[in-house]
Amino acid sequence: MVALSTASHFPSTHHPNRILKPLKPLKPIVRIPPRMACGVSLQQLHHHSDHPFVPEVEKAVDSLYTEFRAVDNLVAMNTARVLKAFQNARVGSHHFGGSTGYGHEEPGGREALDQVFAEIFGAESAIVRAQFFSGTHAITCALFAFLRPGDELLAVAGAPYDTLEEVVGIRESHGMGSLKDFGIDYREVPLTADGSLNLGALKIAVKPKTKCALIQRSCGYSWRHSLSVDEIGKAIQMIKMQNPNCLVMVDNCYGEFVENIEPPMVGADLIAGSLIKNPGGTIAPCGGYVAGKKKWVEAAAARLSAPGLGVDCGSTPGDIMRTFFQGLYLSPQMVGEAVKGSFLIAEVMTAKGYKVQPLSRVPRHDTVQAVQLGSRELLLAFCEAVQRSSPVGSFTRPVAGATPGYASEVIFADGTFVDGSTSELSCDGPLRDPFCVFCQGGTHWTQWGLVLGEVLKFL
Ligand SMILES: Cc1ncc(COP(=O)(O)O)c(C=O)c1O
Repeated sequence: MVALSTASHFPSTHHPNRILKPLKPLKPIVRIPPRMACGVSLQQLHHHSDHPFVPEVEKAVDSLYTEFRAVDNLVAMNTARVLKAFQNARVGSHHFGGSTGYGHEEPGGREALDQVFAEIFGAESAIVRAQFFSGTHAITCALFAFLRPGDELLAVAGAPYDTLEEVVGIRESHGMGSLKDFGIDYREVPLTADGSLNLGALKIAVKPKTKCALIQRSCGYSWRHSLSVDEIGKAIQMIKMQNPNCLVMVDNCYGEFVENIEPPMVGADLIAGSLIKNPGGTIAPCGGYVAGKKKWVEAAAARLSAPGLGVDCGSTPGDIMRTFFQGLYLSPQMVGEAVKGSFLIAEVMTAKGYKVQPLSRVPRHDTVQAVQLGSRELLLAFCEAVQRSSPVGSFTRPVAGATPGYASEVIFADGTFVDGSTSELSCDGPLRDPFCVFCQGGTHWTQWGLVLGEVLKFL
């Protein structure tokens, strides 16, 4: 350790009762531990004790002060909104009690959570349930709430996420009940060459039979821009101008709390997402949500359960309600950490010459940071390094393989406490050209700092 005096050599004039003598400059004190004698240099020692990161990461961290500070402001704004909603719903420990069976005797937590969620997202209503298997399931319930035989679904931001291909019927669902099986047509507005919304094409894309427009906020497994809520708002205006009866559904996965507004505030009729992503705050062990206009939330609930059952059922066994409330409360903070992690990944990988999306230091619209690695080997090695650096299953090696819902082979590094949780530090990617790794999550940005050190060893 090196102790250096930073005190002024002049008496303070601020405190009239204290007469300070000029300080003698202190000599640096260097304590040499016994290990030094065994060949460890001072530089190594200094690095070991004061710098947790490799120099490339350290440099990136130092350059990101402004971005990190802006994220802290965002976290504070979103936390204030969340807190207000908790207080308005008078959330208390009695709401954590849970229920079994039909869930009819639930002590009010389910309703309070729906109310809190709706307020935070600027929606009329919400249904937040453990019974949603995943984001794909929640999005599917929302799409089936809107669409009936003879209607058309229009994907506004290019192709939807991989797991929705079988839901829509873009990929054969073998009679399992895709939208196509029910006579619902599908069309998409391709993105522009640079991966942005094609507003020129969207201006004339909505037809009288287009009952639902699907807007995917986050990039998914595409090399494209994730959409800001402002851009989503502009697209909604454009859609409604052409056909006011066209309902807009936003796939909100990975977008929650990345900005201080959410899609229902700019006119989305429904949004849907997963609780093992952003809004579960790394605490929720499962579940999903649908929020938006009351009528359509009820229709999505009927698809989740059955027509006539409504939203006032569904068991909440064990400790689940506490985890949902606590996770939601923590979510703005966890999202903030993930966003800081994404800035760090982009900065470090750009310096190493890799293409990143979004670019380093540009404002974020989701928690996903994509890096184009360019080869199968590098993608596998990246995911292996992340798995090695994880708290759970660090001794395992992720293997690419077939996953339900995906046409491509996919590799996932998820040494997470909740299985598949991507609000915790994780990365994944389909094994297809241009071999991009999609990184997300983390309960503190420093975790990505450490992981990047491991990744840089093989780059
Ligand atoms: C944009 C987007 N939508 C939907 C999904 C599907 O979510 P889930 O894996 O929870 O089904 C994902 C998954 O990563 C996604 O990135």
